[in-house]
Amino acid sequence: MSTRPYYIAGNWKMHKTRAEAAELAKTLAVQLKDGKHKYLVAPSFSSLETVGAIVKGTNILLGAQDVAAEEQGPHTGEVSVLQLKDLGVHTVILGHSERRHVYKEDDALINKKVKLALKHGFEVILCVGETIEEREAGQAEVVCESQIIWGLSGVSPGDLAKVTIAYEPVWAIGTGKTATPEDADAIHGYIRRVIGRLYGNDTAQKIIIQYGGSVKPENAAQLMAKENIDGALVGGAALKADTFVPIAKFG
Ligand code: 13P
Repeated sequence: MSTRPYYIAGNWKMHKTRAEAAELAKTLAVQLKDGKHKYLVAPSFSSLETVGAIVKGTNILLGAQDVAAEEQGPHTGEVSVLQLKDLGVHTVILGHSERRHVYKEDDALINKKVKLALKHGFEVILCVGETIEEREAGQAEVVCESQIIWGLSGVSPGDLAKVTIAYEPVWAIGTGKTATPEDADAIHGYIRRVIGRLYGNDTAQKIIIQYGGSVKPENAAQLMAKENIDGALVGGAALKADTFVPIAKFG
């Protein structure tokens, strides 16, 4: 248990029509009203306007799941920082493992997006995490370290205050396999030491590091009890109020 505030975010991935997204957002707005932590929901681009109107003025922030690396121009299929700002988006999730591994985004591209999002005043959740092959080869720490160093390259100490790190081991995402609280905490501690080396110990003590990967109501409290785990980035269990609310109100 740390003194840092907890931050629980729901990544809805490519799920929900606008009507479905609106229904969940309305329920969360009511049920999380008395929640004590920082909350965010990240619906698909197509539902941002609808969900944004519902969570406006509540304690739930609006997040996007990605953003283009360029401000505007001929980029068919992309969505820009200017368009997200226009929709009232507060935070952008970047470097999610599905972007890295399925859509082949590399660290240079992710870094470009991180810097552009910060320049436009967004908060950023930067996701890092190793694959099962990397973990079995004893590479979990170095993979996360390299993703942090590259992802934050050129980010000023001032801008780092707007960055949350999400540790999401790829092998735990959507698989039902959760890292044990001890294993997750060890990597979170390692990530905090990397931040300390880059930005100093004070900053490292302040940065929020979420865990993501099969977080459920049954395991949330044990994960959150760990010294270096400051919240969760939730996928599958974020799609229903019945499972997201108990996580958001863990304890
Ligand atoms: P699950 O909670 O479905 O494992 O997804 C985690 C995730 O990828 C959140 O960004």
